[in-house]
Amino acid sequence: MLKRTHNCGQLRLENDTQQVVLSGWVNSYRDHGNLVFIDLRDRNGLVQLVFDPEAAPEAHKVARDLRCEWVIAAAGTVRPRGEGLENPKLATGQIEVLVKELEVQNTAKTPPFEIDNAAAVNEELRLQHRYIDLRRPEMLDKLAVRHRVTKIVRDYYDENGFWEIETPMLGKSTPEGARDFLVPSRLCQGEFYALPQSPQLFKQILMVANTDRYFQIVRCFRDEDPRADRQAEFTQIDVEMSFVDEDDVMAMNEGLIARIFKEVKGVDVELPIPRMSYAQAIDEYGIDRPDLRFDMKLKDISDLAAASTFKVFTGTVENGGIVKGLCAPGGAKYSRSDIEKTMTGFVGEYGARGLAWMKVEKDADGNVLPKSSITKFFTEEQLKELVERFGANEGDLLLFVADKKDTVNKALAPLRVRLGRELELFDPDDLKFVWVVDFPLFEWNEDNKRFDSLHHPFTCPVEEDMGKLETDPGNIRSQAYDLVVNGSEVGGGSVRIHQSAVQAKVFELLNISKEQAEDRFGFFLKALEYGAPPHGGIAFGLDRLVMLLTGTENIRDVIAFPKTQRGQCLMTEAPSDVDSAQLDELNLRVQKHLHQID
Ligand code: AMO
Ligand code: AMP
Repeated sequence: MLKRTHNCGQLRLENDTQQVVLSGWVNSYRDHGNLVFIDLRDRNGLVQLVFDPEAAPEAHKVARDLRCEWVIAAAGTVRPRGEGLENPKLATGQIEVLVKELEVQNTAKTPPFEIDNAAAVNEELRLQHRYIDLRRPEMLDKLAVRHRVTKIVRDYYDENGFWEIETPMLGKSTPEGARDFLVPSRLCQGEFYALPQSPQLFKQILMVANTDRYFQIVRCFRDEDPRADRQAEFTQIDVEMSFVDEDDVMAMNEGLIARIFKEVKGVDVELPIPRMSYAQAIDEYGIDRPDLRFDMKLKDISDLAAASTFKVFTGTVENGGIVKGLCAPGGAKYSRSDIEKTMTGFVGEYGARGLAWMKVEKDADGNVLPKSSITKFFTEEQLKELVERFGANEGDLLLFVADKKDTVNKALAPLRVRLGRELELFDPDDLKFVWVVDFPLFEWNEDNKRFDSLHHPFTCPVEEDMGKLETDPGNIRSQAYDLVVNGSEVGGGSVRIHQSAVQAKVFELLNISKEQAEDRFGFFLKALEYGAPPHGGIAFGLDRLVMLLTGTENIRDVIAFPKTQRGQCLMTEAPSDVDSAQLDELNLRVQKHLHQID
């Protein structure tokens, strides 16, 4: 076997006249009769091989039969390409290798899609043949970035005294609030393990165990419907620290983020990363993960709405709702049907019952005033006040939603992002980091008439709100923080409750009875009673970080073997039936077609 001496991305003019051996896949093939040209591909790049019947008749003869994706090794001499034949797009574009000896190491079936055009091919086909899809340089680059990130993570935490400690995959249901993946036990029949939604309780117990500083690059499992930025099986960079407060955790971990962005992208992240309160984020952006690459803040105009004669607005405010809006710069160019069909339909998907609009125009007297079928319900003074509040200019579009506060925010936040993108209000390559802090500890669940944790039930209230546990639980702020980049939640964590009495009180407020708490987390509550230090931590979504670093909006692009919307691996065809012997061993029986899940 020919043993390779160089990789396919490595050779330059200074290697002129060197004898080399290269191995790889045939990327492309051109037969000019007397000369055969092959672009040879490996992980590092492409290089041109030339087969000349004069120089090596045997190799030339074999080369004429080569096909795309065959695996070959070629020995030959590096030489400059002829005058005017250089390829500036290739790192090796100045040279070629004149082959003396060719070894065909394997043939290949015709691939189901062309590697060079794979980006245009339907994703299902690519996922079925992931081994071919991954050969594409842009896919390999993403895997390379992922590898570099995990290497930096390990180095950074190691330098700062953290230990990487593994926690079990087969465990007890954990409290991140999603559905569990269950694994039946053979030895304890009728009982199930749950795959971890996160190592939350184990990492806290590791603090009780005096490991002081822990991290882990860990797979987590949540049986939710996958989305563009969500997989049922994903990876966290999970961290926990003892004897720390919020500031310590944020400072330590934003240091990692800065290191990653510097080393992988050459971007300087200015530290400390700015902070924004949850209340401000909701108020100005309608969401707790604001995209700060552009302005276009939401504004509450309930007071003006209530003073108008527009029934939709006055009625909403009378019933305790609010009216909020945004000003889309240059948005007056949208047609009536764009607004009343497309945009209204869009906010409708988020529960809004309508979308009121006004185009900002200049009248004959030079006054900048909003215009639409609803401006007649407002006095000129009120219209002027609207223009002023939004800082609106001629050619802008004002859009309003009137509803319950929650619905208004849920509808306007995605509309803001959509318009920001459509109107090109930001540079897609820009990166805007923000810590969202001061989350409420609880949110009221109207359907079940009880409080839910906003993060998870182990999050500690801020010190001065501790007293409200008894008196005003709805207004307690928590020591929780999320790292948000360009509107994506990249990480989140909190300082934890380390005293079992406080933990018990929080469970009580969450309507988790003593028995339920004991049953689900008894082992953990017991651990808290044996000298738990003050502690806190965070988990970053590794997949989401790599998405940002590689500029993709599809989480599947940064995972070697991802799952589809239906949670399937199209290559292995998991999930699949198992044979009856396996079920018998587990004492399980499958009732088919009882529930059809779309
Ligand atoms: P949380 O649930 O916020 O916190 O998860 C932490 C981070 O993990 C990423 N993430 C996901 N990425 C891809 N697909 C998913 N389905 C998915 N779910 C979450 C996000 C998120 O910010 N135990 C706590 C952390 C802590 O308190 O220390 C936790 O799991 O980027
Ligand atoms: P209507 O009175 O239903 O014909 O609506 C008049 C205008 O108000 C239309 O542009 C609707 O989209 C808009 N509209 C209706 N309901 C709401 C609402 N809850 N919030 C904002 N605009 C609304």
